[in-house]
Amino acid sequence: MPAGSAPAGDHPLPLPVRPVATTVRQVPLSPTLAVNEALARKRRAGTPVLPLGFGEAGIPIHPALTRELAAAAGRGGYGPVAGSAPLRAAAAGYWDRRGLPTDPGLVVCGPGSKALLFGLLMALDGDVVVPAPSWVSYAAQISLAGVRPVHVATSPGEGGVPNPALLADAVVRARAEGRAVKAVVVTLPDNPTGTLAGAETVRRLCEVARDHDLVIISDEIYRDLVHDPARTVHSPARYAPERTVVTTALSKHLAAGGWRLGVARLPDGPFGHALRASLLGLASEIWSAAPAPMQHAAAYAFAEPPELVEHVDRSRRLHAAVTGAVADRFAAAGARVRRPEAAFYVYPDLDPLRDRLRAEHGVATGADLTGLLLERYGMGVLPASAFGEPAEALRMRVAPSLLYGAGDEQRLTALAAPDPTALPWIAGALDRLSEILADLTAPSGEGAPARSASGQPTVPATAAS
Ligand SMILES: Cc1ncc(COP(=O)(O)O)c(C=O)c1O
Repeated sequence: MPAGSAPAGDHPLPLPVRPVATTVRQVPLSPTLAVNEALARKRRAGTPVLPLGFGEAGIPIHPALTRELAAAAGRGGYGPVAGSAPLRAAAAGYWDRRGLPTDPGLVVCGPGSKALLFGLLMALDGDVVVPAPSWVSYAAQISLAGVRPVHVATSPGEGGVPNPALLADAVVRARAEGRAVKAVVVTLPDNPTGTLAGAETVRRLCEVARDHDLVIISDEIYRDLVHDPARTVHSPARYAPERTVVTTALSKHLAAGGWRLGVARLPDGPFGHALRASLLGLASEIWSAAPAPMQHAAAYAFAEPPELVEHVDRSRRLHAAVTGAVADRFAAAGARVRRPEAAFYVYPDLDPLRDRLRAEHGVATGADLTGLLLERYGMGVLPASAFGEPAEALRMRVAPSLLYGAGDEQRLTALAAPDPTALPWIAGALDRLSEILADLTAPSGEGAPARSASGQPTVPATAAS
């Protein structure tokens, strides 16, 4: 027995506890995940909820994908940092078919496009313009990367792309203040507004990016969920190929967010190659490689076999029907709202009801409004301020995809239904939404019942996960 060690079977006494004085960096939970957790707590407490906060696609994984994943479950090796050759070739083919010829050598795979976006921001190492509104994680990731976001407003109906004239002004101003603005992020189509910017706006954005030497990060994760399949998504990679990075993933159109698999398409030329080397260096130090079985399944998915194309078609129709119905319910309640053109989000503005909401409920900010909806009605949505908009904006992001069903059986029925909004569990949720909005916007003494005539909530507590 070595000198000083305890005899076998004996444990040395633990040291007396001393509280840890070291502080940790404050990193709040992403708002989308936070609202989901708040709803889960309410549900556990037995309160009925209307889960409209989380950006999950809400449809089942296609069995062909499960089969491919299972077939590759034995692959335990790390594999190349950039991703396997078959996956990179399949992703290149996916982009080729969308008019973006792609060198598989310039494709990098990662554990979700979120990780790739963060890697790109780290590699670029400068301030970044983001649209206002835009997906919650861009600004958060930019701050984590130790740089600062520059928010630039989008034009009405063209969410996801900063207004090009405002972009030019903002870059000139920020640079005059000594800031190193290096990139602009665009989302085509957009989360949170569910809209798709047109060709002319994208082309002008590219001109500004070229004139001001900005890299464009084009997040095209919702590309295959444009409700009208005949509509073209105009990628900046067509107009400014030398400076545009495109990202996408399996998370939205194939509802495989939990599989954590994304890909980035880097620009050809010296800049693209330098960016690739930097991104791979970061990836090698953070995630090493995306999970090998997922890469195998993703190679299958990006090859777009007919059964997956049909699955995506059906999901697109489902998203269009339900988001359209949700928009109609908000419009009927007096909100200003566009019918979404893509993805599974609605972005109503309750500004026309501002005076009433203030008088009846003391609502002054978007967060007051969404807090009230959560606490009083168990309705989870996110305020516009979470997307970089002013605190007083009464816009909110509504994500109805968790209403498609409580389990795969209901969700498959919803995918197959000619009119999914007529299915009892979806119709019930839509009616509950109308009841809530009627109660919220009624003058005092005229509140509509928050519950149905039977006294039961019209949405079963199990309506979504
Ligand atoms: C606009 C946008 N980009 C990227 C992501 C991240 O997707 P993932 O990391 O699952 O690829 C999301 C997910 O909500 C999103 O809405």
